[in-house]
Amino acid sequence: MSALPLDDLIATRGSVILTGSFASSNAAGGGVLYTASKHAVLGPVRQLAYELAPDVRVNGVAPGVAATRLRGLTTLGRGITESVLDGTELALPLRGSPRRQRLCRRLHPARVRGRKCDDGFHGDGRQRVGHSRDRQARRSGWAPTPRLRRTTSPQGAVGQEGTEDTMELYDVMRTTAAVRDFTGDPLSDEVLHTILDNARFAPSGGNRQGTEIVVVRERATREALVELTLPGARRYMAQRQAGEGPWNSVEPTSLTAAEIASTDVPDSMTAPLLNASVVPVVCVDLRLVASLDRELDRIGVISGASVYPPVWNILLAARNEGFGGTITTMAVAEEPRIKRLLGIPEAYAVACVVPLGKPVKQVTRLTRVAVSELARRERWDGERFGV
Ligand SMILES: Cc1cc2nc3c(=O)[nH]c(=O)nc-3n(C[C@H](O)[C@H](O)[C@H](O)COP(=O)(O)O)c2cc1C
Repeated sequence: MSALPLDDLIATRGSVILTGSFASSNAAGGGVLYTASKHAVLGPVRQLAYELAPDVRVNGVAPGVAATRLRGLTTLGRGITESVLDGTELALPLRGSPRRQRLCRRLHPARVRGRKCDDGFHGDGRQRVGHSRDRQARRSGWAPTPRLRRTTSPQGAVGQEGTEDTMELYDVMRTTAAVRDFTGDPLSDEVLHTILDNARFAPSGGNRQGTEIVVVRERATREALVELTLPGARRYMAQRQAGEGPWNSVEPTSLTAAEIASTDVPDSMTAPLLNASVVPVVCVDLRLVASLDRELDRIGVISGASVYPPVWNILLAARNEGFGGTITTMAVAEEPRIKRLLGIPEAYAVACVVPLGKPVKQVTRLTRVAVSELARRERWDGERFGV
């Protein structure tokens, strides 16, 4: 460590990567000495990050568990031990990721079969253990209190200080499903704040950032939202049952008002509003949206692009935090009533209602069309895009 070329590192704004282990922040196989030596890597990563960031980027990597036999000090009564103990798989990273599931199955085939490895730890052996500190605070010599990043694991445990409890981006993107069944576990204001704090980095036209969110928790308001969901959902279901594209703006419906009014709405369309932990209602200030397609002879689509990116970021961030939800729009058919219910000003549009909570089941496989089915080269009649 003393051999670190500090001046050069700072002058070149270089980076330091120290290699630790899964055992740098976890107990597993290997015993006390092994784990102590690996934990000893974590301290320098944190301290160097504290002293050098942001001039020098400091990170630690923590290679994951390999099923192997570890040698201990025989003088201390430690012979050869297995690296994988019962329960190791529960501490493995990457909630619900297929890669993590495969690793879990390799480690403990019988234990994992009926159960997800789920905790909120990095799964591919790349746990980040370092973090940066504020440059001004460092310069002034003031040492801020270490920030406890409270992250709730699916088991309700609180994350460790300084660990970044995040999943791989592509794993999040490929496994963020529409969640409608919730366990009833709370999604705290703190976790929701973390979700929104990350979601707000979504783009908007001209970076006007017209999105505003009403965070609904009150039972009476949720029940009112259920009532407002029913008319739109009735027509949606009726059209679907009649083989029409529900609510599409191109082909008019052949159904009568009476037929629509007599259609049942499945519980799955309203229950999430009541069972979710929290129900954000997302709005957008239309004065801040450049609707470039507003004069075209079709329904506008561009306006939504200034509000749905943050909405989708909310769902990605929720997934990352071990939660989930669904974009719902049925209630928006009754927008004037939603606006009255929540006191939303005239110039705003309601984009969606997003029940969020802890999923009963984490889906890891989504059904989506292949790239070749959605992309083509150069022109509409060009060949399907593929590599
Ligand atoms: C614009 C939009 C509107 C949606 N509206 C609703 C809705 O009102 N109610 C609902 O249950 N799901 C709604 N969804 C969720 C979709 O049904 C869901 O994303 C889709 O079926 C894919 O589900 P999966 O991710 O579980 O595969 C909406 C999704 C989008 C993007």
